[in-house]
Amino acid sequence: MNILVIGSGGREHAIVRGLAASPEVKNIYVAPGNGGTALEEKAHNVEVSSPLCFAKDHAIDLVVVGPEAPLVEGLADELRAAGIATFGPGIDGALLEGSKQFSKDFMFTHGIPTAAYGVFTVDEREAAYACLEDFGAPVVVKADGLAAGKGVTVAATLEEAREAVNECFDGRFGDAGATVVIEACLAGDECSMIAFVDGSTVLPLAPSQDHKRVGDGDTGLNTGGMGCYSPVPSVSDEQLVQMTDILNRTAAALVEEGIEYRGILYAGFMLTEEGPQILEFNVRFGDPETQVLLPRLKSDLAQIMMKTACGELSGTVLEFSDEVAVSVVIASAGYPGTITTGLPITGIDDAMARQMKPEASLHIYHAGTKLLKTDENSEELVTAGGRVLNVTALAPTFEEAIEVAYRAVENIHFEGAFSRSDIAQRALLKREQK
Ligand code: AMP
Ligand code: GLY
Repeated sequence: MNILVIGSGGREHAIVRGLAASPEVKNIYVAPGNGGTALEEKAHNVEVSSPLCFAKDHAIDLVVVGPEAPLVEGLADELRAAGIATFGPGIDGALLEGSKQFSKDFMFTHGIPTAAYGVFTVDEREAAYACLEDFGAPVVVKADGLAAGKGVTVAATLEEAREAVNECFDGRFGDAGATVVIEACLAGDECSMIAFVDGSTVLPLAPSQDHKRVGDGDTGLNTGGMGCYSPVPSVSDEQLVQMTDILNRTAAALVEEGIEYRGILYAGFMLTEEGPQILEFNVRFGDPETQVLLPRLKSDLAQIMMKTACGELSGTVLEFSDEVAVSVVIASAGYPGTITTGLPITGIDDAMARQMKPEASLHIYHAGTKLLKTDENSEELVTAGGRVLNVTALAPTFEEAIEVAYRAVENIHFEGAFSRSDIAQRALLKREQK
């Protein structure tokens, strides 16, 4: 197989490494890729203006779309219409992430558990304020469209909630904020379930938990995710069954709506006292969730992605390693705000070489990195984004995985590099409480 992967993050690096391990894969083109995908076996970073033309010119058998934006813009429809197998939903399915209003209406129509909500457009400001009063604080305000993870405010007071509504209506998120979804605030632990969906067959990966805030102890600004672990010890068998059932019902509802959904369905859950409820759907792999899920997957990723794209998942069983996985993000100073790029990165090979625990393994994925040509024959690895590296460790226990990941983090350097120091501590804590 020749595969084209669209994207440039740690998620895409983990996907590329997973695909490269398949004996069926010959070439992986990554558009645009990063410093890590450039070094991966079988992989080539490419600048592509039209994925469709590239796919035709390079005899591409499968296109894997990493991020949500190209899916929401219809890339999968364009490729499929030209007969190219594509991993990722079309515009209709991508609306589950592209429009919070669509997603909430869809859940409401199909009886999928989620928080009570109201939807308001810019000329309904007073009605939106009244809805906030009805729900009472705390209350959640969401821009309808894609806002790079910044469009959600969990407001502790009504005043803060009104400000969030005004920010949306006054243009902070452009068109994405012209419609606002107001939701009742749910309480509980959060947990993500990510599944391959080929239309009717749903194959869930293990549960995982992200750390969204920038600072230790879940303080500071929201980020794309500062670290992750899988599985989630606090999730009971009953909750796992309930979440899987909700994923199956969602896939059935998509079929009922006439939406042919082929790719990843990511369900963000709040585990409330009344059972798991959906906070959000994403229509692609999570980042950094992928960096803990794919290294645990023992099945052939290329085959599974191809079967998903072709609607042939039925009868497939996913195999996972029994180990747990912990991934720590190394970020640039200033992230999630303004950052400096182009800073030399050292110590990755050293970190790999020093990993001596035979029962554990270390997987370093690049996110915001690139290879800079220093002269004719040499290149230097430099920073190129807010989240720079994902350091993932697999081990029999969370204690060991945390130790291996953080020991590697200490060996990797660039100016201003920082990480959270408490990734996966929640896994230890929750396990003890159980
Ligand atoms: P979303 O992008 O919709 O998942 O929202 C981002 C984050 O906001 C979630 O991971 C939750 O931490 C929080 N959140 C979203 N909706 C709610 C809700 N209805 N109740 C409580 N927290 C929420
Ligand atoms: N880590 C959260 C997301 O990918 O949406």
